[in-house]
Amino acid sequence: MRTFQKVGPLRAFVRGIRAEGRSVGFVPTMGALHEGHISLFRRAKSDCDLVVVSIFVNPKQFGPNEDLDRYPTDIQRDLQIASNESVGALFQPDVDEIYPAGFQTVVDVPALSTPLEGAHRPGHFQGVATVVTKLLNIVRADRVYFGQKDYQQLLIVERLVRDLNIATEVVSVPTARDEDGLALSSRNVYLSPTERSSATILFRAIRAAEDYVESGGCNSADLHAKLTELISQEPGASIEYVALVDPEELSPVDSLEGRLTLLALAVRIGKTRLIDNTLLAPPGVPKARHRNSRG
Ligand code: PAJ
Repeated sequence: MRTFQKVGPLRAFVRGIRAEGRSVGFVPTMGALHEGHISLFRRAKSDCDLVVVSIFVNPKQFGPNEDLDRYPTDIQRDLQIASNESVGALFQPDVDEIYPAGFQTVVDVPALSTPLEGAHRPGHFQGVATVVTKLLNIVRADRVYFGQKDYQQLLIVERLVRDLNIATEVVSVPTARDEDGLALSSRNVYLSPTERSSATILFRAIRAAEDYVESGGCNSADLHAKLTELISQEPGASIEYVALVDPEELSPVDSLEGRLTLLALAVRIGKTRLIDNTLLAPPGVPKARHRNSRG
């Protein structure tokens, strides 16, 4: 595995690979790698000749009261995981390499950045959209891989790639979960053993919502009330939002009938903030989005 700290040499390396007619898949991450990230690497490896991974804890996407200072890092372990997973190149820039003195441009996808995570984490998606645009311009891969775990992020990246004609195809990968359903996340390491068992409430709520819809329920307010009650009963859990929204616009839906609906959850377990989501499809509606996500 080749490792790069600087933009220039990484670019030259990727350009050389593509000039040989080999395809390049890119997986941007903030490190603290886990099986969720690994599922993206494997998907990229199955589609592309070379996999490029970036590890960059992007300060611009953390709010002043968020966990930037204690975000988990273990670069030696990450390097080991990446090389075991046949990652061909690892890009690990310093903050100054990405945001040199005088940096001022922002990328903003306003409507999709406002609800859900955006309402609770002001500025977060502007930070994500800005760094992802930069990383896509630096790597210039054929395909870039994002997890459905961060559904709103995926939607925003698809939008900016189309809006800015970025010549990289966005590929989405299903959420990797622990055996009990908890979505894998770098932040799960913050959970105490008691909190770790409470954290399964997000997946239990997803299951309850799927059961509701599969058995013919279609009243959004009714389902919202049921999920709120279920999650509130879990010791140590406090709801930030439970949202039933259109999967493309992220606008609230009244009825789940005959349509695909996104259930998005943000719940604090103790001090740890966890998110999860699923697409709810009533009987007869395909559980998949149809998108052409190329710029
Ligand atoms: P990070 O949280 O490290 O996630 C990197 C990628 O892994 C994202 O596409 C995320 O959706 C995906 N991922 C995380 N947990 C997953 C899981 N359980 N199953 C499947 N995929 C999962 O998301 C970011 O970093 C940053 O915002 C970034 C895009 C790198 C920009 O800084």
